[in-house]
Formats: sequence, structure tokens, C-alpha cells
Amino acid sequence: MSARTCFVGGNWKCFGSNQSIDALVSGLLKADLSNTSAEVVVAPPFVYLSKVKEALAGKNISIAAQNCWRESEGAFTGEVSPAMLRDIGVHWVILGHSERRHIIKENDELLKKKVEAALKHGLKVIFCVGEQLEDRKSKRAQEVVTAQLDACKEHIGCWENVVIAYEPVWAIGTGEVATPQQVQEIHSMIRRWFEENISSSVAQKIRIIYGGSVKPQNSTELAKNPDVDGFLVGGASLVADQFASIIRSTS
Ligand code: 13P
Repeated sequence: MSARTCFVGGNWKCFGSNQSIDALVSGLLKADLSNTSAEVVVAPPFVYLSKVKEALAGKNISIAAQNCWRESEGAFTGEVSPAMLRDIGVHWVILGHSERRHIIKENDELLKKKVEAALKHGLKVIFCVGEQLEDRKSKRAQEVVTAQLDACKEHIGCWENVVIAYEPVWAIGTGEVATPQQVQEIHSMIRRWFEENISSSVAQKIRIIYGGSVKPQNSTELAKNPDVDGFLVGGASLVADQFASIIRSTS
């Protein structure tokens, strides 16, 4: 693990109810995070954002939305704008998650506008990249990830407020975690991309986190990689003890 401040995000996806979220939050409030310096963020579904934000006030856990729209307002039924998220005190947004790229069919064209709008409104962005199984099998993983980064590069003026999450699609929700070697290979490639396309200073500072079946049983090993600066956790972030244990493993 590097000198960069580690970052651990919990992506709750489309899971939860008032009852289960109360239980999860109360578990997080009780969790001992005193010995970790990691920056921690949780991303509840939109409708629970305010409630979770209020409940976790004082715990040093920030709140992220799982998505946002590309405009500040307008006739866009069903969308939530970055300005609205800022208005309710949300500081982070996840963009480019593979479930939105592949199930909702969000493409690079839309994503770059979303990233630009989110940053313009003062949100920090967890920008997700990652290849599908076919890409990996045909040895195109690096090419796919590079193309996803290339697509956004002109639309990000300042990278200070961006975290990159490498989430290979084949490892998400499957229990098939990428090996530490596979993760390090792509993370170092991403850092090289920053070196070559943005600047050395950004390459050194930007946090590159891994997501895909991260559990307390594998996080310590993954966190040892020099270019792994933390995790974006799905399933295990819905269990307070597991999420806390993953956070502690980054120390
Ligand atoms: P899992 O940890 O459930 O594999 O999900 C990873 C993920 O998609 C986080 O954004």
C-alpha cells in the first residue's frame, strides 16, 4: 500500500429497506475504525441518501450517490442532478459502474458528460472502468480500460476530485476475485496511462481502487499491491462487520 490515503467505498447497489439500512448503519456506527486512516464512503440507493447521511454524521464516513444526471436541472423525468445531490450534502458520486454501462447501456458519450457535470457541481467522482470476460479471454483487458479512460480525459479539468475504480466485470458479484497479480497489472497500467496522458504528479496522487468480490478473506492480500489504494465493495459492504474488516485491512 502506498503513501496515498486509502479509499474504501461501499456500493449498496439496489439493495436495502428502511429496516435493513437502519441495521446496517447501526453496525457501521458500532464498528471500530479508530486505527485506520482510510477515507470511507458508502453509496446507498438515492431514496435513503439523506437518512444515511444524517445517521452517519460524526462517524467520518462520507456519502456517495450511485449515479447522477448530466444536467443541473430540466425536463428529465426520473433523473437526479448533481446540483440536487450537492443540495442535500452528498459529496461523492459513482459514475461508469459496469452495471450502468452494460445493463442500463450508458455509453462513453453520456458518461463523459456526466463526469463533467458532476465535477462542475463540486461532486467528487468514483469513476469505474473494467473489462468483460470476453475482453480478458481475448487479451483485450488493457485496451478496453484504456479506451474508457481516453473517453473521459478531455472532460476532466482537475483530477484531484477523482478516484478510479478498476472493476473487472467478470469479478463483480461472482465470488471470482481477480488475483493480486491481475489487479496489480491493470492498476500499474492505469497509473502509467496517467503518467503518459495527464501528468506525473496526477499519476502519483490519483487513487486507484479495486472492486469485484472483495471480502475480508482476500482484501489484505490485494491491499499489499503497490498500486492498490483501496476498494470499491459491493456485497460485503452490506454486512457492517465485513465492510469494517475490509476497511481495517487497508491500514
Ligand atoms: P461485489 O463486491 O459484490 O462483487 O461488487 C463489486 C462492485 O460492483 C462494487 O461497485
